[in-house]
Amino acid sequence: MATQKTWGGRFTGATDDRVESFTESIRFDQRLYREDILASQAHARMLAHAGLLSSDEAELIVATLNDIQGEIARGEFEYSIKLEDIHTHIEQALIQRLGDVGRKLHTGRSRNDQVITDVKLWTRFAIDVIDLRLLELQRSLFGNAERHHDLIIPGYTHFQRAQPVLASHYFLAYLEKYQRDRERLSDCRRRVNVLSLGTAALAGTSLPIDRAFVAQQLGFDGLAANSLDVSSDRDFVVEFVFDLSLIALHLAGWAEEWILWSTTEFNFLDLPDAFCTGSSIMPHKKNPDVLELIRGKSARVVASLQQLMLLIKGLPLAYNRDLQEDKEPLFDAFDTVSASLELAAALVRDTSFRHEAIASRIEDGYLDATTLMEYLVKEGVPLRTAHEAVGQLVRKCEDRKLRLIDLPAEVFDSIQMGLSAKVKSVLGVRNALAAFQSHGSTAPAEVEKQMLAWRQRLEAQ
Ligand code: ARG
Repeated sequence: MATQKTWGGRFTGATDDRVESFTESIRFDQRLYREDILASQAHARMLAHAGLLSSDEAELIVATLNDIQGEIARGEFEYSIKLEDIHTHIEQALIQRLGDVGRKLHTGRSRNDQVITDVKLWTRFAIDVIDLRLLELQRSLFGNAERHHDLIIPGYTHFQRAQPVLASHYFLAYLEKYQRDRERLSDCRRRVNVLSLGTAALAGTSLPIDRAFVAQQLGFDGLAANSLDVSSDRDFVVEFVFDLSLIALHLAGWAEEWILWSTTEFNFLDLPDAFCTGSSIMPHKKNPDVLELIRGKSARVVASLQQLMLLIKGLPLAYNRDLQEDKEPLFDAFDTVSASLELAAALVRDTSFRHEAIASRIEDGYLDATTLMEYLVKEGVPLRTAHEAVGQLVRKCEDRKLRLIDLPAEVFDSIQMGLSAKVKSVLGVRNALAAFQSHGSTAPAEVEKQMLAWRQRLEAQ
């Protein structure tokens, strides 16, 4: 039915069925119906304000669009690939109901600027959702930092035991990462929140539209300056999905850590039953599926980013139909990260830490070796000499299966006269922890300062 097409005038033949199903976007862009209606209502009011519609016509359009929105929300609206996308569906539904008045809505705009405006409105909302989810996760992590404030855990580099850290320092590390993610989102939001509508197809319009009026109604902070740029601009989609990718990667690294920490080998933590599943054959199994899928699904998010970057590669100005392919990766990346964050926050909140199991092995792995070396440095031994000396002590311990503190007094005294008498107050994980003092370190006083700052920051939101 060529007549159903909003662009059917210059065509005589019908569209090939295969072309309709190849080119449709209604399957996925129906998700934009609220944004499309919101933008159309603002546009209609602006047309009345500019004298291109009567105010009665504009009000009728606004009210009818509300009816259509209700129908869509209730699942009563019928979609057809013949109408390609959500924009055409809604406009056609309006025309069906209002005839000529409906035919005026598209005055001074094009689907090109309409699509991007809808996507911007949606992305603005999506950014706010992710930000809230990140805040929830930060709160869960902070709750753990408070609950486990006296717990000392091994810190790792290369996943080998390195130095002791306070568990609160560990949790705050992730709060920092997610804070940067939130800052990136709010920066991205500034670029999203610029109105595209009114740039029409590519060059603007000869009709006396008022873009500032639309921007004000839709809560945009400014107007996109160059119409040619706007119709091809998907930078903000790529940028948002990059931000989502980094969040997904932060989550995946943490998930990996906790999967390992939940093993019998580590035995650091007990994941909540509600977030694990069992095995159909091995009755004892409790598998960390949620964590594994948070890790696994990060691949989809990064793949979406790659898809978007490849999509815009080599596209000339201005609109090209390729750009319709931006929505699926955008929606998928958002859905994946949103769900991952929601589950992560709940899982973090309900996981218990096995303080005793952690404490029973905390003196393993020479977490105090660096402290001893730095003690010698404070005593005037050149760093490289101290490093070498402590390294040799560790080798002796490994041969004899000892901890540093268990070495005979003469071994210490051969490094420095009288050292054996001092090591009691230097070695051991508690002493090692107490010795830290640099800014941003795991020194208890430093961590206390950070906890205070975070408490204030989180309470203020
Ligand atoms: N379905 C299209 C999309 O989502 C609508 C834009 C159509 N514009 C055009 N010039 N054909 O991008």
